[in-house]
Amino acid sequence: MAIRQALLAGPLGFGGAPLGNMFRNIPDDEAEATVDAAWDAGTRYFDTAPFYGAGLSEIRLGAALKKRKRDDYVLSTKVGRLILNELEDPAARDQGEKGDIFKYGRSNKIVLDYTADGAKRSIEDSLKRLNVDRLDFVWIHDIAQDFHGDAWISMFETARTGAFRALDQLRDQGVIKGWGLGVNRTEPVELMLELSEPRPDGTLLAGRYTLLDHERALQRLMPLAVEKNVDIVVGGPYSSGVLAGGTHFEYAPASPEILAKVQKIKALCDQYKIPIKAAALHFSLAHPASAAIIPGASKPERIAEDHAALKTAVPDDFWVDLRKQELVSPKAPLPIDRK
Ligand SMILES: NC(=O)c1ccc[n+]([C@@H]2O[C@H](COP(=O)([O-])OP(=O)(O)OC[C@H]3O[C@@H](n4cnc5c(N)ncnc54)[C@H](OP(=O)(O)O)[C@@H]3O)[C@@H](O)[C@H]2O)c1
Repeated sequence: MAIRQALLAGPLGFGGAPLGNMFRNIPDDEAEATVDAAWDAGTRYFDTAPFYGAGLSEIRLGAALKKRKRDDYVLSTKVGRLILNELEDPAARDQGEKGDIFKYGRSNKIVLDYTADGAKRSIEDSLKRLNVDRLDFVWIHDIAQDFHGDAWISMFETARTGAFRALDQLRDQGVIKGWGLGVNRTEPVELMLELSEPRPDGTLLAGRYTLLDHERALQRLMPLAVEKNVDIVVGGPYSSGVLAGGTHFEYAPASPEILAKVQKIKALCDQYKIPIKAAALHFSLAHPASAAIIPGASKPERIAEDHAALKTAVPDDFWVDLRKQELVSPKAPLPIDRK
């Protein structure tokens, strides 16, 4: 519950990965205009990470938020990778299956560090790049198969006795408001939720509780999160773009099967005259474990769409039909189930 209580302006936050030049070279002024558009629309929760462009997303977010009072917004970043002053070729990085999505980011060398000292150093570095004196939530980034293959298990063990304990202490001391994992896979979250200690407050789960992909999270992760009072921040609610009119699924070009499924969902949305973004955001938020949704954007015009989508009144019959047409898991809670 600690996460949802700390949110200042509702569940719609801003995902800062695109600000790190994800997929393309984004001009500084476009990045700033996107953050400004989010602010003007009422967004008060911003997520970023050292990994996003090797510090670029944090630097840009910090610069854009400099004109705002720190008490007026909520900020999360991540630990687990240190950004060094030494340079490297971003295209030659060995960062797992999604390693090259930030090839247009800064060239600073990125090293993994899930120890307690690494987490503390990472926070200090992030505070400098963001130009702020404190963070609200800290997520331990990408201890999972997609970046580390089978080695994720030994990294999880390093983090369990390292970063987990360091962040637990910082939360208990009131330095941060909450911590957890920031991952694209369910297994590390399940493992963490089954530990008796330390106690995370939330978790940023990206891409695994979306309209397109939620089956696995519904089996164990989401019920466990409810049971343990751990709030889920849904990252990548558009499945990295394909649900919003983009072409990426899981940070790679979407397959014909995925595009066909999106087409079916879109056809139903058109029938009910609602934007597909509304279906995506309302679906991800309908689970009782979900505390927030943080769509990413690198263009200012996306922000108004996101806020309009959340405000859209989705007809009950849309959800009934979505279920009837088996476009979602029969086990997925829908907004109509809360009535
Ligand atoms: N391991 C982790 O902790 C982790 C992993 C993934 C994500 N996250 C967090 O979750 C946030 C959101 O994830 P995400 O940014 O990867 O994916 P997302 O929110 O699912 O989708 C964002 C993408 O949708 C595109 N989009 C939005 N509206 C569109 C439209 N009308 N037409 C075409 N494309 C549109 C955006 O394109 P434009 O760029 O062109 O605006 C952007 O590339 C991240 O920024 C990050 O904060 C965390």
